[in-house]
Amino acid sequence: MFKSPVDPQKFETLIELNGLINSDYSESRTLLTRILESATRLTDGEASSLLLVNPENQRLYFEIALGSKGEDVQKFSLKKGEGIAGWVFEHNRSLIVNDVSTDSRYFGDIGRKVGFSTQRILAVPMRIRDECVGVLEIINRRSGRDFEEEDRQWLEVFANQAALAIQNAQSFERVRNEITSLQDQIATDRGYHTFVGSSRVIREKLDLVSRVSQTDSSVLILGESGVGKELFAEQIHLQSKRADKPLIRVNCAALPEPLLESELFGHVKGAYTDASSNRRGRFELADGGTIFLDEIAELPLTIQAKMLRVIQQRTFEKLGSSEPITVDVRIIAATNRDIEQAVEQGSFRNDLYYRLNVLPLHVPPLRQRQEDIPELAEFFLQKVRRETKKAVRGFTDEAMEALLSYTWPGNVRELENAVERAVVICSGDMISPTDLILQETEPAKREQYAERPLKDAVNLFKRHYIEGALRARGWNQTETAKTLGIQRTYLSRLIKELDITR
Ligand SMILES: Nc1ncnc2c1ncn2[C@@H]1O[C@H](COP(=O)(O)OP(=O)(O)OP(=O)(O)O)[C@@H](O)[C@H]1O
Ligand SMILES: [Mg+2]
Repeated sequence: MFKSPVDPQKFETLIELNGLINSDYSESRTLLTRILESATRLTDGEASSLLLVNPENQRLYFEIALGSKGEDVQKFSLKKGEGIAGWVFEHNRSLIVNDVSTDSRYFGDIGRKVGFSTQRILAVPMRIRDECVGVLEIINRRSGRDFEEEDRQWLEVFANQAALAIQNAQSFERVRNEITSLQDQIATDRGYHTFVGSSRVIREKLDLVSRVSQTDSSVLILGESGVGKELFAEQIHLQSKRADKPLIRVNCAALPEPLLESELFGHVKGAYTDASSNRRGRFELADGGTIFLDEIAELPLTIQAKMLRVIQQRTFEKLGSSEPITVDVRIIAATNRDIEQAVEQGSFRNDLYYRLNVLPLHVPPLRQRQEDIPELAEFFLQKVRRETKKAVRGFTDEAMEALLSYTWPGNVRELENAVERAVVICSGDMISPTDLILQETEPAKREQYAERPLKDAVNLFKRHYIEGALRARGWNQTETAKTLGIQRTYLSRLIKELDITR
């Protein structure tokens, strides 16, 4: 194929590049730059570009451009058929033009705009399975000589190398995405959430989590409603040596006192009227693993004493039994209430608080880590897209702006609900601000809270909040409870307590 004798320098370069292609797929841009540099040097080019086809709009983008005006060129793109590169893409064939001024296919616009004078172009297609995926082009020659047939053949060899590198990088990317999605799938199947967030604050917290995970000390997770306390509990468990043992969750507010006690510690037959058989409690189920005590501030005083003993000695008795049971359990508790205040008011035992609070972890509200909003919003969008199969591609700039400037009283959970609702409402392929329906607490509502004792104001808020959530879910309690992240039984108790009617 080549005229002999073959230039040994060219062969060496090729062999060297070949070795690189299989080395590190994640560095494909660096590799493509190396290929283009070598091709330019060996064809004696003055400037050069590597253009890639965007399959969505069939335009050619300057992925890499070398030469004095390289950086300026990278802003541009070409339609199929436009200019020499566009012609090569359209016909999937190489082209030598040694005098562009006499060739009508020459576009010239980009050169004029960046102030680069072009005389000659050698352009060849990059192909994956015979399909043109991009174009390599060399512009002008330092020597001033014409491009020849041999130059074309050499450049085609480099184009093949580049195409191979691109194909590898694409497969690598696909495999990596696949792995991430499978990992997520496995975690989700085991009942764990995917943790999203990379703001500085969150990275600091995750750093704390990784250190805390190495110990068996109790952790108390504090933070507003919906900030992700449960997800932090999951992370502590998953990063600990207990990760392949169960993480048992108990919502201390979900059950009335006697049921909760039996739920936690189990009972023996006949312990109370309904107990028709022996039952293992959550602490026993969590043996070897972790127990997550959610809404710990709601734990009834009577159970608090028993809890204290479990924490100190890892020992307890089932209801109706005097036989002590010992378990190996790591305890993580969480609350969105001011637990110190509960201690002061006497509704939470001081000694229990100190035992639980060995390692406190404060999860910051979403308004203090706005950098996480785009990533979380995209994550929830993908999740809803999978569930609804609706082809919503993303958020308009204005919608993202709205998400960033909102104060998120309901934190991440509210963001998740907002995105879910927006996808349902959205009629185009991008979510716009009108799809989002974000409502800052109106002044009128805020006034209703003013001058009331805290307890009343909180209850009033709860009423508004739950009423709103129920209405949004067509008064379906199971759905609403799921959205609010509470048990259905707790929700129906709240509905009664707060006197919510349809
Ligand atoms: N970092 C995060 N990454 C992904 N999803 C998150 C994250 N934080 C929160 N979420 C989402 O928000 C929801 C609420 O989080 P979580 O249940 O952990 O909040 P919480 O702090 O326990 O709230 P509450 O005090 O109301 O119980 C989760 O179900 C999850 O879908
Ligand atoms: Mg929670």
